[in-house]
Amino acid sequence: MDRLKEEEFIEEVKAGNEITSVIGEYVSLRKRGGSFIGLCPFHQEKTPSFNVNPEKQFFYCFGCGTGGDVINFVMRIENLTFLEALNWLAERAGVPLPRRETPAEQRAQKEREWLFRLHKLATLYYRRILTGTPAGKKACAYLEERGITPATAGEFLLGYAPDSWTGLVDLFQKKNLSLQAAEKSGLILRGEKGYYDRFRDRLLFPISNPQGRVVAFGGRLLGEGVPKYLNSPETPLFSKGRYLYGLFQAKEAIRKEGKAVVVEGYMDLLQAHQAGFKNVVAALGTALTRDQAKALRRYTEHAVIAFDADLAGQAAAMRGLDILKESGLQVQVTTLPPGEDPDSLLRKEGPEAFRQLLEASKDLFTFKLDYLLEKEKPGTLEQKARVVEAILPLLAEEENMVVREGYIRRVAARLEVSEEAVFTEWRKYARAQRKKKQPLDIKRKSRNTNDITHTAALPPAGPGKMERKTSSHPEREVLRLCLQEKKNLERIKEALSGIEWTVEEYRLLFIRLLEVRATESWPPPASLFPAELRSLYSELQAENELGLPPGDLDGCCRRLHQLQLRREIWQIQREVAAAAEDSPELHEKLARLNKLHRRLREEFPTFSGLR
Ligand code: CTP
Ligand code: MN
Repeated sequence: MDRLKEEEFIEEVKAGNEITSVIGEYVSLRKRGGSFIGLCPFHQEKTPSFNVNPEKQFFYCFGCGTGGDVINFVMRIENLTFLEALNWLAERAGVPLPRRETPAEQRAQKEREWLFRLHKLATLYYRRILTGTPAGKKACAYLEERGITPATAGEFLLGYAPDSWTGLVDLFQKKNLSLQAAEKSGLILRGEKGYYDRFRDRLLFPISNPQGRVVAFGGRLLGEGVPKYLNSPETPLFSKGRYLYGLFQAKEAIRKEGKAVVVEGYMDLLQAHQAGFKNVVAALGTALTRDQAKALRRYTEHAVIAFDADLAGQAAAMRGLDILKESGLQVQVTTLPPGEDPDSLLRKEGPEAFRQLLEASKDLFTFKLDYLLEKEKPGTLEQKARVVEAILPLLAEEENMVVREGYIRRVAARLEVSEEAVFTEWRKYARAQRKKKQPLDIKRKSRNTNDITHTAALPPAGPGKMERKTSSHPEREVLRLCLQEKKNLERIKEALSGIEWTVEEYRLLFIRLLEVRATESWPPPASLFPAELRSLYSELQAENELGLPPGDLDGCCRRLHQLQLRREIWQIQREVAAAAEDSPELHEKLARLNKLHRRLREEFPTFSGLR
């Protein structure tokens, strides 16, 4: 993007995001004179010193000195970089990105915008049916019966799809919207006799993205029947597992309270918000996904999961819990009394009971231990031994020795065996893992290659900085992923900003890929690469075709970040060694070294107990 276009784009984004309306989503503002005031979201205060000036489109806090334009505000409050905040606001206002996008990408972007509009239209339509028509009466009655107030229904834009085949279809037609194109929204379907509405005679829960734009609906029958819930299908705007219901309404409270509570269903969420638990989001009945974890991680490091008590539910939750943990969230789990969900508990017992339940949540290890004990109900010594065996890998996930020791004591106590016995088993396990590590890695690498060892496809390593690494080197894996799919290239570009490539040839190939990313066919044809990169290019292609396990994108990026941190640490260690004793530089360098070590530990908790 050239400079001028970039400035124009920034101006357009700012023009589309009036500062008081953006900040108003996070802070309740009062008019005072020509500006607005409210409680600063960036520091704790009781009297408002946070000012928003609509004329200058600036905010400023007299308490903590934070200030800036709408982009700065979004950077701070959403934890985004400048570019991310810019994209975020562009999406919020529907300003198309001026990147060097291919015509296909531009078309897709336009389509998404149009689909957003359809969803907005549909939301308003369903909402009006609920609140302003006789047809909506029974849905209002249903909400009342379930204890949802009109205010809560309003906050979450609940609506009602009338018992008609063409309510929304007629509306689209009246507005001259192409039904054929609208089919992609998932809101209408095409049948033998023409187009018809997906949602009929259902209470509707609009699902928003974190910017508050509706991307899909969930719909509940007003009575018994199947399916009880019907959701939007996969569309260009929505895929199941990508969004958390209620995140838009909850994100501010999550940030303030420093933790998020995850429940399962729509009704659980509404009831919780209504009872004052504003930091609650809903997973929509699926095991939690990486995308959802990432979305939460932007606002907090702590998540409390409040799922049903039944064992099946717990097993399903279990996978989701590991994903949350891997995404860097500290996870607590609380189990509801049998047969209850947060909705029913809140209605029967009130907010205090729910608060106590959340307070009594367990850490992940304890939760899993309890689950195993519940499942196995170990009585004999053999059964106890089996439980210990199942626990050992869980112990390995905890890197802190003090914590691990505490866990071991707890396991022993719960099983009524000696701590010494569990310790001994743990040491045996850890030793075996250490031994297994090397051979295991090699085995994994040559899997899927049908006896052709991948090293045969590689050239002899060259000298110096141009030296290439083994095919499992993360930089090389990243390049292979880029060749596999163009969208990987975009994601990797973002994930790797600030990271230095250690192999010059890899760096050059990556830059070339970015230069040629406008080509339609992917991977780009070899002819687009200069002669000195061709051989690397064809090797990578060959590796892709051989089906070498590619490794996952996030994993690769994490490893590269980790390597970068390690390199920085080595560098500073060398500097520390060279610095004069007791000099100010030495202290400054030691402090930096400490910080880096802490970052490494926090961002990349490892199984240090196994090393
Ligand atoms: N769900 C879904 N599709 C279904 C069933 C469930 O999407 N066919 C999701 C919904 O988000 C639902 C959640 O899973 O809210 C939990 O399902 P369930 O426990 O069956 O429903 P409740 O939320 O308890 O619904 P209600 O209280 O209205 O009966
Ligand atoms: Mn329920």
